[in-house]
Amino acid sequence: MATTATEGERHVHVLAVPLPAQGHLNPLMRFCKLLLKHHQNRGSLRVTFLDFYAANDSADHSFSFEFHDDRLLQRVRFPFPSLSQPLTSLGTFFDSLVCIESGLEHLIQFFNRHGVPVTCLLTDVLTTFPTQDVADKLGISRIAVFTSSAARLLLINYVAQKDILSMETVMDAINSKERRDELFCDSVPGLPRLLNKDLPHYNYIIDDTRTVWEFVNRSWKACNSRAHAVVINTFEELEPSACSLLSQDCDVPLYDVGFWIEILSGDTSTSMREEDERCIGWLDQQPTSSVLYISFGSTTILSKPQFEALLHGVINSQQRFLWVLRPGLVDDIDHCSASKEIISRSENRGFVVDWAPQLRVLSHSSVGGFLSHCGWNSTVESIANGVPILCWPYFADQHLNARCIVDVWRVGFDFKHSVKGDYLIESHEIETVIRSLIEGKEGGILRKNAYELKQKSSRCFDSSGSSLLKLTALINDM
Ligand code: UDX
Repeated sequence: MATTATEGERHVHVLAVPLPAQGHLNPLMRFCKLLLKHHQNRGSLRVTFLDFYAANDSADHSFSFEFHDDRLLQRVRFPFPSLSQPLTSLGTFFDSLVCIESGLEHLIQFFNRHGVPVTCLLTDVLTTFPTQDVADKLGISRIAVFTSSAARLLLINYVAQKDILSMETVMDAINSKERRDELFCDSVPGLPRLLNKDLPHYNYIIDDTRTVWEFVNRSWKACNSRAHAVVINTFEELEPSACSLLSQDCDVPLYDVGFWIEILSGDTSTSMREEDERCIGWLDQQPTSSVLYISFGSTTILSKPQFEALLHGVINSQQRFLWVLRPGLVDDIDHCSASKEIISRSENRGFVVDWAPQLRVLSHSSVGGFLSHCGWNSTVESIANGVPILCWPYFADQHLNARCIVDVWRVGFDFKHSVKGDYLIESHEIETVIRSLIEGKEGGILRKNAYELKQKSSRCFDSSGSSLLKLTALINDM
């Protein structure tokens, strides 16, 4: 049951509605914790975080509550029949929106009747339909959360809003398989130099990139005219021109108040898988900056040839490694025997887990590099910990993130000689680049750059840091 506000007290009750996918759950919960931490009058802010759980019955709209953090943060368990399916199918994704739509209004009305009325919805840009509709209908303000970079949002804005890049040009570049390595743009304000293959696409998971782009564009247009504000998990000093162009071009206030870094454990964990803590004990025994952490996030799938090339490259590099071999990561392979094979070939240099406590791993002094698919959360978590990145992007914003990591912030390497067509990389190249990252001179330079960027990111929350100032403005605006 929700708590009741003291009579006369002006309260803010934020209802946070995540998209039920790991890369969207983590940043939303971290942002909620950030709000609670920096709110001047903690007692007057309540945050309710909606937790989806897999339900068998699609007609089940019951929900239950759990309180945490002095009752200021509460979690509502909300049934979601398709949760066992990954959100990487368009059908499941749209199912999740229908599920939110059918329960959200009901839940808000429950709060209004029995507890502290909801005053603000905090929801992902991708759930604009239906959450903005519900907010408008009930007269509640909605803050839209964008969980990727400012460059990604700027690119969306250029296509959806400003018509600076046409959808046809973008689709032509994405679909031109034989022109993947050709230049797409090198002087669009706020964006890095991009090749055709760097444009966000979904070809590896859904064969309908255009539908996704159109959906994202529509959602963004609605946010930009109807949301109360938009928050992004980035900071001004990281993406100065993208942030400033967005602020000028957006019709609603835009708050670049990142990074949202908070280790989510116990009460506030949003991990959809069990984290294997044993890897921290293993890291404790390794020398400083000696370990390559390998993880491809929660949705990327490797083909068997990609996995084999990676395995050879990692083993032949002779470096220490911690590898997240998520069940289902590799297509068409027996998970258990793949883990055993990695360990048996590692000569005690490697450790394999199904799922790691990633933030704790990246903040560990033994970790010297991160071989990553460059999802935005992994990128942010690596930068915030000063860990250089070896980029192996697959889909969505990952190529764009990799361009910034390599060319703009200079905190990572990418693979130059990919075999065209199938995102295959020669194992020999993998081996050489890993060595260079962990023990080479160039790797040392990246580590130094990464350390400087880490310092910048932590200064954002100093007393006059850019993120803290904007967060304070946002809280006042709420
Ligand atoms: C997806 C898209 O792939 C990504 O491009 C987009 O930016 C966000 O949505 P995902 O693939 O899951 O995200 O990658 P990422 O954004 O890196 O998020 C993964 C999250 O899972 C991170 O917060 C990371 O810390 C966590 N994680 C990952 C773990 O806690 N343990 C692991 O073993 C691996």
